[in-house]
Amino acid sequence: MEYFEEFLKKPSLFQDESKLEMNFVPNKLPHRDKELSLLSQLFLTLITDPNSISRKILITGKTGIGKTVTIKYFGEILKKASNERNIAIKYVHVNCRKERTSYKVLIKIIQLINKNFPKRGYSPQDLLEILIDFLNQQDTHILIVLDELSYLINKGEDLIYSLTRINDDSVNIQERISIIGVIRDISCLNNLDYSTVSTLQRNIIKFSNYSKKQIFDILKYRAHLSLKENVIADDLIKMIVESTYINGDIRNGLNVLWKAAKIAEGRNLKFINTECVRLGSQEIVPFSTLDILKYMSSQKLFFLLSIVKGLKSTYDTKISFLEILKRYQIICENLGLNPRSNSQLWNYLQEFKRESIIVIEVLSEKIKGRRALIQIPEINLSKLENIIIEILKSKGLHV
Ligand SMILES: Nc1ncnc2c1ncn2[C@@H]1O[C@H](COP(=O)(O)OP(=O)(O)O)[C@@H](O)[C@H]1O
Ligand SMILES: [Mg+2]
Repeated sequence: MEYFEEFLKKPSLFQDESKLEMNFVPNKLPHRDKELSLLSQLFLTLITDPNSISRKILITGKTGIGKTVTIKYFGEILKKASNERNIAIKYVHVNCRKERTSYKVLIKIIQLINKNFPKRGYSPQDLLEILIDFLNQQDTHILIVLDELSYLINKGEDLIYSLTRINDDSVNIQERISIIGVIRDISCLNNLDYSTVSTLQRNIIKFSNYSKKQIFDILKYRAHLSLKENVIADDLIKMIVESTYINGDIRNGLNVLWKAAKIAEGRNLKFINTECVRLGSQEIVPFSTLDILKYMSSQKLFFLLSIVKGLKSTYDTKISFLEILKRYQIICENLGLNPRSNSQLWNYLQEFKRESIIVIEVLSEKIKGRRALIQIPEINLSKLENIIIEILKSKGLHV
């Protein structure tokens, strides 16, 4: 009966647990000054001469190095600066991995600026016109952030095409829309037409990876915000830096920090010790991968499951594409699914590679006899298998 009371009696090591959450935007962003300054410089005209230009900017850089948080932070600065000057600017942040299609992205943008907008009954072209009408009516500019933009591009969606061309052939018209696109690297743009690419490539801000020293400063700052004083020693933060530095994703570091503090609490300790960090770092699956799996289509998950199962059953660290195909056929037969074509599956492989889940060693690129060896080097296979099965289960699919 007294469960809550028991827990409440225990002193917490946290000052504010939410400050370790992945989506939290802190008051300071150590080591992203240069990027924030560049962004402000590029968007200065939105404030000095509203609606005179439409900026299109691309941000690139690896996963977990602060692209999203820096842009959100910039959005706050922009809102503040424009409010102070009574300039109407809207800022909207859309994650294309979550929204998936041009249609959903546009609906999301419109609903962010007009909450009562009905969801159905429009084509993407309608929506674009509605958006522009709305901006004209309100005499306002909008900065649209298309985060994880590659998820739209790879679907051959033409939203980027339309957005980069709005106003192209009209004169003396107000410029209403600016765009920041976020991608991992420039190769994501390969599927776009030449002129869209060249528009987007005019302004690129490349976020560099953090050094160990920088990761230390960041984790120390986040620990300072979230934990009580003296709960973690610098040496232990350094330990977390070592594991975080491997793939550079700050989210892994924040996660270990949180887990280590929870473990220490569970053991009634007054501070975190080496053992807590060690246990906390026995990372199950990298954070970036978990995120990707959560939004992956069931078909892709089934295919990934075939790879995992295949790898688990061989003594080798690699498995051939052909071998995976056989496994996949069996899974599909057992579940009564329609298997995807080989070329579709080959595309899935390329996507897994881009998402840093697998490594492919291509032996031959011939369409008929594609030969390749596939590896999953960084993730524990049994854990990955369980996670995939759980996610499928949550979609009502039992393997
Ligand atoms: N300079 C920084 N200061 C504080 N926290 C940071 C910093 N850079 C990244 N983070 C945190 O690390 C996590 C990953 O950053 P994120 O912006 O999501 O990376 P990306 O968009 O590049 O994948 C977030 O929780 C973010 O708050
Ligand atoms: Mg991001």
